[in-house]
Amino acid sequence: MSYPYQIKSLEQYHEVYKQSIENPEKFWGEIASHFLWRKPFDNVLDWNFSAPHIEWFKGGQLNITENCLDRWAETQPDTPAIIWESNDINEPHRSISYKELLVKVNQFCHVLKNNGAKKGDRICLYMPMVPELAIAVLACARIGAIHSVVFGGFSAQSIADRINDAQCTLVITADGGYRGAKEIPLKSVIDDALVQCTSVQKVIVLTRTQTPVSMIKGRDCWWEDEINNVENAGNPFVEAEVMEAEDPLFILYTSGSTGKPKGVVHTCAGYMIYTNYTFINVFQYQPGDIHFCTADIGWITGHSYIIYGPLSAGATTLMFEGIPTWPDAGRFWDIIDKFKVNILYTAPTAIRSLMSFGTDVIKRKDLRSLKVLGSVGEPINEEAWHWFHEHIGKGKCPIVDTWWQTETGGILISNLAGITPQKPSYATLPLPGVQPLLVDENGVPILGGDASLQDLPSETVSGNLCIRHPWPGILRTTYGDHERCRLTYFSTYPNLYFTGDGCLRDKEGNYRITGRVDDVLNVSGHRIGTAEVENAINMHTGVVESAVVGYPHDIKGQGIYAFIIFNGVLDDDKLIAQDINQTVSRVIGAIAKPDKIQIVSGLPKTRSGKIMRRILRKIAEGDTDNLGDISTLLDPAVVEEIKTGRI
Ligand code: WTA
Repeated sequence: MSYPYQIKSLEQYHEVYKQSIENPEKFWGEIASHFLWRKPFDNVLDWNFSAPHIEWFKGGQLNITENCLDRWAETQPDTPAIIWESNDINEPHRSISYKELLVKVNQFCHVLKNNGAKKGDRICLYMPMVPELAIAVLACARIGAIHSVVFGGFSAQSIADRINDAQCTLVITADGGYRGAKEIPLKSVIDDALVQCTSVQKVIVLTRTQTPVSMIKGRDCWWEDEINNVENAGNPFVEAEVMEAEDPLFILYTSGSTGKPKGVVHTCAGYMIYTNYTFINVFQYQPGDIHFCTADIGWITGHSYIIYGPLSAGATTLMFEGIPTWPDAGRFWDIIDKFKVNILYTAPTAIRSLMSFGTDVIKRKDLRSLKVLGSVGEPINEEAWHWFHEHIGKGKCPIVDTWWQTETGGILISNLAGITPQKPSYATLPLPGVQPLLVDENGVPILGGDASLQDLPSETVSGNLCIRHPWPGILRTTYGDHERCRLTYFSTYPNLYFTGDGCLRDKEGNYRITGRVDDVLNVSGHRIGTAEVENAINMHTGVVESAVVGYPHDIKGQGIYAFIIFNGVLDDDKLIAQDINQTVSRVIGAIAKPDKIQIVSGLPKTRSGKIMRRILRKIAEGDTDNLGDISTLLDPAVVEEIKTGRI
């Protein structure tokens, strides 16, 4: 097998890119013809960004799981689809072939149907990184239910908000999950969440940790019992639901600059084609390669590059339950050695954390199988890039620095491994079909910032990163609130999709993402809105007001710095900080806990009452001598106090 649309040379990339922007419909229509359709599409693209209204492959009917499972179960039944490595080094790994995966997904489709699920229902998944999570995701897709996976680190409150927003009727979870030395009581967290959720009728619970759990009669059932029932009934095959190209496939919640996460909606055909195309081209996947993406399926990277991208390409995807540093910092390297991994796709934060353990732990590991390395989620600093290149790739593996977002479905800007040039800390060139351009704050295009014009700047230029034309993986809406989607992404600059990222473009046309320009932090590659963290902090009884900003953090990329006006008994700052952290963990999850908490008597505000975050950001960064003009502040004296009390 080979992939007819895999780009093989730099010249071909330029040629294909040119065609893709001259005639996007012809370009994507041709790629779409390589997939399994129940009914061919009538129209490749219908769009306007002002609504926004985006429809790809209208009239087409398909089921993504027939493209991810059935076609490979027929042509390469014994190829491993999923290889799974446990958190526990002593637990045997699992290898599930395409034929077996199809059977398991079909069985679970029956379970879902037996529990009342049907096309269009929203199903919340809160699970550990075990193959059953992938099976549940695919089973939802096969029966046409919309999955909403919630990362296992989120709190009961966050889950409840997400379940209620989407009005989920069913929850799939496990008794618990393992992460390093920790056990996460998933079912117990779900029980706490469900106190607030009236839409949920059934909860299916997988056994993983054998933690004692409460099982509510009529609502909760065990995964294993349900599968037994299906097996006893015989005939596990399930005809996949016929889906319209634009039927929703999933919802994934992500943080923005307002307090409430939004449910990003992706649809069946466009998302499938885009994740497949980018997987095959960016990583230059060859049949037989083992692809190891270290993300959690609770994030978009796991959706697109553990499940849908690889499986739609008939690839072997490696799924790891644990964390890179347990039982020791050699775990990734052990896994690469053990399974002869060819592609490693991970995050800068993981690389920086592993760097800090030195290279001794790598020395005895055989990493020769590696061909391609990848980075995602945040800008990769040059030091981490070179360490990754030298010590893991041994100088011979290209590194793809892939820039994209939950909203984009798949990678938009990246080098193609070994095909287009890499440049440390640059995501480099746009993928075919992607038309990035840089604008100033008024939306005026920056000269030399537009890839589709192919005019290269005479020196590096900078601006806000926008995209001028849809690609098949673009979000279609935010669940239940289309206006919010329009306001967030399509209203800042008319007729452009605004990414929220700042960006540079160099003389060769390479893009370099510099970070968010809105109030969104990127902590260990996870997006967290400052407003969301402030809302959580403000729920603590003693807190009067708070302001949260990011600051550079050696491992996490960005850390969370909270300035808090506190009105409780103020005798022990440390205890207050702990209580506040506990509150944030309860409201959002441990990932949003501030790294630094400074109690202040006031916040720098303008006369109209707006907090001057720019000043707080500078103080948090340690740049206290260049605070700029503070004369417009209501109370400039407060700045001195904050500077002195800096942590
Ligand atoms: C950031 C993750 C620099 C960026 C796939 C974006 C990056 C946000 C890169 C999306 C990269 C992602 N270089 N920055 N290669 N990849 N980002 O939705 O700020 O979790 O807007 O999607 O991460 O985060 P999200």
